[in-house]
Amino acid sequence: MAFPSAWLDELLHKNEIVSVVSEYVELKPKGRKLWACCPLHGEKTPSFSVSPDKQLFYCFGCHAGGTVIQFVMDMERLTFYEAVQHLANRVNMELPNEVNDREMQRQRAYKKRIIEANTEAARYYCKCFSDPAIGKDAQAYAARRGLTKEIVTRFGIGYAPDTWDSLMKLLKGKGYAEKELVEGGLLVHNESRDSTYDAFRGRLIFPILGVNGDVLGFGARVMGDEKPKYINTGDTPVYNKRNNLYGLYLHKNEKLDDLVMVEGYMDVIGLYKAGVKNAVASLGTALTQQQARLLKRFVEKVYIAYDGDAAGQNAMVRGLDILKNEGLEVRVIVFPDDLDPDEYVQVYGKEGFDRLKEGALSLNAFKLEAMVKGYDLNDENGRERYAKAACAFVASLQPIEQERYYKQIAKKTGYALDALKAQGVRSGGMQSTEQKPTSRGSLRRRIDTDEEPRDIIERTLIAACVHDPKATVYAANEKAEDLFRNEVYRAMFLAMRAQGAAFSLAKYIGELSEKDADTASAVLREEDAMENAVDTAADCIRRMKRDNEADEIASLQARLNKPDLTAEERNAVLKEITERIRANK
Ligand code: UTP
Ligand code: MN
Repeated sequence: MAFPSAWLDELLHKNEIVSVVSEYVELKPKGRKLWACCPLHGEKTPSFSVSPDKQLFYCFGCHAGGTVIQFVMDMERLTFYEAVQHLANRVNMELPNEVNDREMQRQRAYKKRIIEANTEAARYYCKCFSDPAIGKDAQAYAARRGLTKEIVTRFGIGYAPDTWDSLMKLLKGKGYAEKELVEGGLLVHNESRDSTYDAFRGRLIFPILGVNGDVLGFGARVMGDEKPKYINTGDTPVYNKRNNLYGLYLHKNEKLDDLVMVEGYMDVIGLYKAGVKNAVASLGTALTQQQARLLKRFVEKVYIAYDGDAAGQNAMVRGLDILKNEGLEVRVIVFPDDLDPDEYVQVYGKEGFDRLKEGALSLNAFKLEAMVKGYDLNDENGRERYAKAACAFVASLQPIEQERYYKQIAKKTGYALDALKAQGVRSGGMQSTEQKPTSRGSLRRRIDTDEEPRDIIERTLIAACVHDPKATVYAANEKAEDLFRNEVYRAMFLAMRAQGAAFSLAKYIGELSEKDADTASAVLREEDAMENAVDTAADCIRRMKRDNEADEIASLQARLNKPDLTAEERNAVLKEITERIRANK
């Protein structure tokens, strides 16, 4: 939700960044900034800086940066909304609307009640599981699946007894109404028979917790072969499977290098038991953008480890781009013999899993690999068709990557490297289908390795404008708004041009989405070394113009490679290229 601008102003004003950051680390002044060892990543020499006049922070080590809101988001692993709440609490500000908005208050109270009912239910299911008589079969089933007592406790595994109304009686006795228990998913109401009964009966129970530890819903597995295998809490006021990841709450307070995405409850648990403790499940198959964003709050790198069967593999391909587009680094673990992760670690243990993880495929390697499945490589015709499709794909990648993959295709098909490359060029690889990683997603931590020089130039121009409004005036005269390729920077420039000296970077960043805020706050990297802002701006603009022009020439040159070009068209293109090159000198 968006907060009213004036209210957000007051929030930022009252939560002075130096005082907030000082609650976590001790800041020492040096130059125009205050410095500390970065509380967001481990380090021994201080590269974390706070700029009191700009009310922003920036870490030169991990490239985290932004407003005090962003700092709290990173530090406390909160969403934007939660971080604002946290800061409002800190200075006793009431959230806007809340005061008068009865409806909002009512909804909040209702959600809280459903979570409480869920918590009671989870407790009850655990008690049933431990009960020597009631839980006897469940205990035997759990033991058969290798679930130790420790694991059962860790994941809060329970048992819903095979009765129609034991949970209903218990919760009604505690004052809950039938309606709210139905809406929360604990009871089911059957319209035609006009009867209400417990939703989960005679099943092993896996409570689903939100990142903050709230019990949001349940998964319930049969202990025999009946169908369906799992029943899960559906859409309720507090739970929607699209917004959550099973097992993530276990890591709320940990620093993680990466997370492993699996499909099911038992995969998370099986891996955990084997010593691979950083798995989370999408519970169902299609990954959502909300889940990708949730992951992004915890890690930069995700390993996808879906079941080896066809359904798992298909689901995986769809999920990969969602993750990548949120700026996550993605690797794919492929399991042999249709095994799922749980089954795999039972046979090969953590060592086996770690080996697979080490050999995990990059996103593009995996896509190329997945493509093979559609063709019969033992057949000349199949090899040819595969080579064509694969070359078209490879031609759309970055040049350095292309080299590696052409070799891979050559090995598979037996075609010569040169022939494959020529094929790639013909397939129209010039029109790249690749998303530029820098223009989407986060720059953080990837900035040094993956960044295009162009982004640095645009960012430097913005930094010059932030530093000195005279640079903004200069750039506006040069019509810089038409030159940007990075939309975040273009929008920033337009805001600065409109607001002049009144522009506040902190406030501007505070109103952006998380990923745009990352891009925008990277500006702070350049701003520090700025001496003459107008000169710098002029430099950047010159380079951007030259760059844009070179690009246009390159795309003209690409037209020359088109096979169906007539001699006449060819001459026209050549003429235009020559003119442009001359004009550009
Ligand atoms: P799997 O069939 O791979 O289940 O489905 P699993 O987690 O490996 O469980 P075990 O080992 O057979 O006990 C993957 C996930 O898909 C959802 C569940 O979230 C499950 O964990 N699923 C599967 C359902 O919701 N309903 C079903 O009937 C089956
Ligand atoms: Mn399984």
